[in-house]
Amino acid sequence: MEKKPYYITTPIYYPSDNLHLGHTYTTIVADTVKRYKQLQGYDAFFTTGTDEHGQKLLEAAQKAGKEPLEYIDPIVDSAKGLWKKLDIRYDAFVRSTSDAHAKNVQKIFQKLYDKGEIYKASYSGNYCTPCESFWTDAQLVEGNCPDCGRPTHKHEEESYFFRLSKYRDKLLQLYEDNPDFIRPAARKNEMINNFLAEGLEDLSVSRETLKWGIKVPFDPKHTIYVWIDALSCYLTGIGMGQDEAQFARYWPADLHLVGKEIVRFHTIIWPAILMAADLPLPKSVFAHGWILFDQDKMSKSKGNIMYAEPIIDLY
Ligand code: ME8
Ligand code: MG
Repeated sequence: MEKKPYYITTPIYYPSDNLHLGHTYTTIVADTVKRYKQLQGYDAFFTTGTDEHGQKLLEAAQKAGKEPLEYIDPIVDSAKGLWKKLDIRYDAFVRSTSDAHAKNVQKIFQKLYDKGEIYKASYSGNYCTPCESFWTDAQLVEGNCPDCGRPTHKHEEESYFFRLSKYRDKLLQLYEDNPDFIRPAARKNEMINNFLAEGLEDLSVSRETLKWGIKVPFDPKHTIYVWIDALSCYLTGIGMGQDEAQFARYWPADLHLVGKEIVRFHTIIWPAILMAADLPLPKSVFAHGWILFDQDKMSKSKGNIMYAEPIIDLY
């Protein structure tokens, strides 16, 4: 009997610095699930990779006095070396800077624009560079970024927007019809109560100021802004645009495994983009908690991190 396909992904990690114990944790879990699915008789495909565009990466490279890829390449090598050391059996390692990926992202962006799902308008807000997030005045905490507590700066520019607002009811319906779409359930409630309950705003999906990224195909002074680029790596991994038979075999994903801070992107933005692009939706997003350092999330942008390598050496 022909084996049934099973598609699992990790987040597409930022190579702004060497990957740490947090990334290692998600990747080991994904690898374990893949092997378990194989034991169960599935034909399992596992995608991981690196999310290489954006202001933060550009600044990290500049700080090191390097061109972006000159800075990123050794970090990608180190990540691949770490996965090898841990015997992680991924099937695709997507680099968002690859040509194949850029073509997919531009094709999706063009399609959304042609369908009227993306439109041009003006954007203004308070921008936190380390978090790559815009905040409204009301969201700021004592004038600072509500996520990391650091100062933000005012910023206004022309931008393309994705009509996220029109997907609110469809998303609620999706969660209702598919109780396993967001796990654990507490995360689903968080999405509904914190984001969908009040209604959704359209999403800014391009930046004029950002120079390191994939260009809007019909308006190249605009750069496509993080999420459409990063999330679409899940499509590139299984061969979109290159091996359509393989793509058709593995899409939609069975499981996107993520940390809890990016659930919103995977359970609100991503399914809305896929609906708009007429693509099937992933079956499930599972969000795990954080490895802490003292009481804080261990994270690159906070600098309180532990790496896997010394621990591997020790044990
Ligand atoms: O968010 N504990 O990349 P990222 C547990 N590029 N897991 C952790 C962790 C911790 N302290 N720190 C990181 C991005 N992780 C985007 C993703 S996806 C299309 C784009 C793991 O380098 C966890 O899986 O910040 C988390 O979601 C991910 O690394 C974030 O990696
Ligand atoms: Mg992060």
